[in-house]
Amino acid sequence: MKKVIVYYSYEGNTKRIAEFIHNKTGYDVVLIKPVVPYTSDYQKLVDEEEEKMHQEEVVEIEPIHIDFDNYDTVILGTPVWWYTMTPPIRAFLKKYDLNGKAIIPFATNGGWLGTTFDDIKKYAPNSEVKDPISIQFDKNTLVTDQEEIERWINSL
Ligand SMILES: Cc1cc2nc3c(=O)[nH]c(=O)nc-3n(C[C@H](O)[C@H](O)[C@H](O)COP(=O)(O)O)c2cc1C
Repeated sequence: MKKVIVYYSYEGNTKRIAEFIHNKTGYDVVLIKPVVPYTSDYQKLVDEEEEKMHQEEVVEIEPIHIDFDNYDTVILGTPVWWYTMTPPIRAFLKKYDLNGKAIIPFATNGGWLGTTFDDIKKYAPNSEVKDPISIQFDKNTLVTDQEEIERWINSL
């Protein structure tokens, strides 16, 4: 059984970490894409998502062509938006059956992780959510010690 990296990234930080994991492990990588792309206006996005923060919004995502039967572990990457996972990752957890699999989450954020990992558990009640890592950025600059990330990757 294999491991697969599944992630969404708006500004590139989560993508950077997903690629870092991929380069070190060779695990397959899947990018989740919303059908309707988000606005490129950062402040507009922040304001719109703040309004929706209590709605647990689920957006429509592009189908992904992967047979999860071949994998026993999903390494799941999301930016933190308003203290939780992004709507495309929520949509992924709702749409795909990960029952019996392990989910190892990584969440990039600006220092306010909120309930991201508990919420992932809530949306994947029949998976084992374990070994999460919060990875902090200051805009596009990595704040979390890279060695801590490497240790986490080595433990996967
Ligand atoms: C709509 C929106 C909401 C955000 N909310 C939070 C938050 O609640 N806590 C936090 O620490 N960072 C927050 N951020 C910052 C992002 O989590 C951080 O920049 C992340 O690394 C971006 O990942 P990406 O480059 O893969 O999109 C928010 C960013 C956006 C665009």
